[in-house]
Amino acid sequence: MKVAIAKETFPGERRVAMIPANVPPFIKAGVEVIVEPGAGAAAGFLDQEYLDRGATLAASRNELFSADVLLQVRCLGANPDAGRVDLALCRPGQTLIGMCDPLGNPQAAQELAETGVSLFGLELIPRITRAQSMDVLSAMATIAGYRAVLLAAIELPKMFPLMMTAAGTLKPAHVFVIGAGVAGLQAIATAKRLGAVVSAYDLRPACREQVESLGGRFVELELETASAEDKGGYAKAMDDDFYQKQRALMAKVVAESDVVITTAAIPGKTAPLLITADAVSQMEPGSVILDLAAERGGNVEPSLPDERVLHHNVLVLGPTNLASEIPYHASQMYSNNISKFLLNLLDGDHLKLNFQDEIIRDTLVAHHGQIYNARMREALGLEPLEPLGEPESPNVDPRQQDTIKVEGLLSEEEDAPSPAAETPVDEEDAS
Ligand code: NAI
Repeated sequence: MKVAIAKETFPGERRVAMIPANVPPFIKAGVEVIVEPGAGAAAGFLDQEYLDRGATLAASRNELFSADVLLQVRCLGANPDAGRVDLALCRPGQTLIGMCDPLGNPQAAQELAETGVSLFGLELIPRITRAQSMDVLSAMATIAGYRAVLLAAIELPKMFPLMMTAAGTLKPAHVFVIGAGVAGLQAIATAKRLGAVVSAYDLRPACREQVESLGGRFVELELETASAEDKGGYAKAMDDDFYQKQRALMAKVVAESDVVITTAAIPGKTAPLLITADAVSQMEPGSVILDLAAERGGNVEPSLPDERVLHHNVLVLGPTNLASEIPYHASQMYSNNISKFLLNLLDGDHLKLNFQDEIIRDTLVAHHGQIYNARMREALGLEPLEPLGEPESPNVDPRQQDTIKVEGLLSEEEDAPSPAAETPVDEEDAS
């Protein structure tokens, strides 16, 4: 079996799906690893390092796509224009693994499905303990939260820490983080390390303790939030009335802050509007807002994706690819995630899709020419499919015991599916 590491084609993307340190376990398993020349260069990983770890270089993009498994940071859905070129190279029996914006752009996944590829969308990794090491959203959000604070610190015409100097006392900057999920918590920790006074708010009550454990002050708003969390640990969408109240209550804290970082998101939905243009104009001139939800509609009214907007002398930034701005560590984390994911799919030197495994079932976006994910089918107006993994007696649906042998074309094995197996994952992290 051949696994390919593609050079990313999304404009400005500097990450690579797998770094050289993660190649050896696959070579050891008897898997051939082929790399597109220059794939890791923008992240600081040179071709020679891949060769030293046992990979070979592809002579062309065509040769790369001859591989059985293709690893990418951004598959078509997450690379809507440049990624389209790859459609002509995809073929039945091939497996693509990467981020594909399954809930934001299900149409792109359908186009990939029509080529006959099996597509795994890594954004759909379930948030269960066994899958934590594969969770690309958490990994990339960690980088984004860190980077957001550094950008704010550079743009703010003030320093972050309290300083008592012979030339006078400088007051510390006040940073307000809205949304204390993975990115938000990392932003709080980073702003604290730089010496700012940090406060934060999240509608999930469980966040209070996490914010306080990082030295932040949890902002109290008089809002009923007891039912704001779903069973996956994500925030639920609230009604317009709630958001209106939230905006009004938060405006005062926003006005008193030098930096506001917003990360509030509802998976698969437009981000809630939390800061109005009017609230922005109440901030001191020179203040900075970073809207990490700008790509999903934005938490801040004046923000625009990847634009610098100056609103009443307040700088509003809406960066959409912060993880790519720290490409070495972002690639290292993503590579660890995708390696663990791929090892979980491997049976010896070939792929085996055990649909009893929640990780495999939840991430499978397209297979056998169809979209499999239920939420994506709904978004596309498609009839629901029988859920995968639930035995159907007496005529078991072939999809439930599907096994792909990746030598050559897609084939189904006649053996009964193996019971849900806790596939051991390589415990060794990349150095
Ligand atoms: P996310 O990116 O979907 O959302 C970011 C944050 O925005 C969330 O904390 C959410 O509660 C908050 N938010 C949404 N609407 C808001 C509003 N109107 N006002 C204020 N805040 C609002 O979420 P993320 O960061 O990917 O993860 C959310 C949670 O998922 C984590 O804090 C954790 O509890 C859980 N998680 C579990 C993992 C596991 O493996 N068990 C791994 C990672 C996260």
